[in-house]
Amino acid sequence: MRVAVFSTKPYDRGFLDAANAGRHELVYLEPHLAAETAPLAAGAAAVCLFVHDHADAGVIDALAGLGVRGIALRCAGYNNVDLAAAARRGLPVTRVPAYSPHGVAEHAAALLLALDRRLHRAYSRVRDGNFALDGLLGFDLYGKTVGVVGTGKIGACFARIMTGFGCRVLAHDVAENPAVRALGVDFVTLDRLFAEAHVISLHCPLTPQTRHLIGAAALARMREGVYLINTGRGPLIDTAAVIQALKSGRLGGLAIDVYEEEEGVFYEDLSAAILADDTLARLLTFPNVIVTSHQAFFTREAMAAIAETTLANLDDLAAGRPGPNAVRA
Ligand code: NAI
Repeated sequence: MRVAVFSTKPYDRGFLDAANAGRHELVYLEPHLAAETAPLAAGAAAVCLFVHDHADAGVIDALAGLGVRGIALRCAGYNNVDLAAAARRGLPVTRVPAYSPHGVAEHAAALLLALDRRLHRAYSRVRDGNFALDGLLGFDLYGKTVGVVGTGKIGACFARIMTGFGCRVLAHDVAENPAVRALGVDFVTLDRLFAEAHVISLHCPLTPQTRHLIGAAALARMREGVYLINTGRGPLIDTAAVIQALKSGRLGGLAIDVYEEEEGVFYEDLSAAILADDTLARLLTFPNVIVTSHQAFFTREAMAAIAETTLANLDDLAAGRPGPNAVRA
């Protein structure tokens, strides 16, 4: 089957080629899928999409008109696909429901350690011949209280890592995870988690209920100097409110792998361009803010798992089978 694979970088191609082993004709395209780029799928029986591709109703109509018969997402989230429109046009949609949750949880832990021990500053300082310690004072994580919001696959891994550090872990979830409770973690209200945690890490999905979960009201209920880690989704945080909390010192540090307006910025080399996003530019001025570019998932294990599952999903689409990873409206 000929597949138009949108938003591909060289690292995607290597893993997809290895998993494909020649069974489908993968046509690699750099652009994101949008109304203007949909015609690039001409001649393909399926499209393969990532997080910043947009398959809204208009795009789906255009794809169906070109003869595309299926959509294979190579990510877990599907908020960027109009599932009702896909169903109307008879286009099955598949996704990769799980790949290494360990990689994401480990990245959250790496962000926390870097933030606490100022590794981002120490790294550049030492290379500049400055071996002074002023400004690098952190705190022991041992014995501190870590709040985990969302205890699914990734949150559970993160809670386990933090118990290994000797932290007291509090969790909040709409559905309690017994495996997390078995670690000795207490499930508490969001209010109590905000009030007691020295570190808060977000691992819940983006839904209408969780959008701007961390806003001015939530920040006001937190401990002075709390560290906030977000590897979930950018809009879980109201960035403007977080900037105010950084300025007032309420927030002692922020480490994010996702950002509300990351699209068009993250995954691109803009080092020779002028950054047009003033909010992101302001965030990058704080010494106690670390931003990574939605890379938490980016491990060899996760990339291989994403490619394997995507190719299996393409086999299902080619055979007209629903398959285990179909997503329905
Ligand atoms: P999961 O579905 O296994 O777990 C999500 C958990 O959040 C569930 O336990 C669910 O009950 C809980 N939840 C839902 N609504 C909630 C609410 N209002 N308050 C508290 N908890 C709530 O998902 P998984 O695999 O653990 O992924 C979590 C999130 O991590 C994803 O939704 C995605 O946004 C993000 N992610 C980020 C990646 C990155 O590279 N930065 C990579 C993969 C996922």
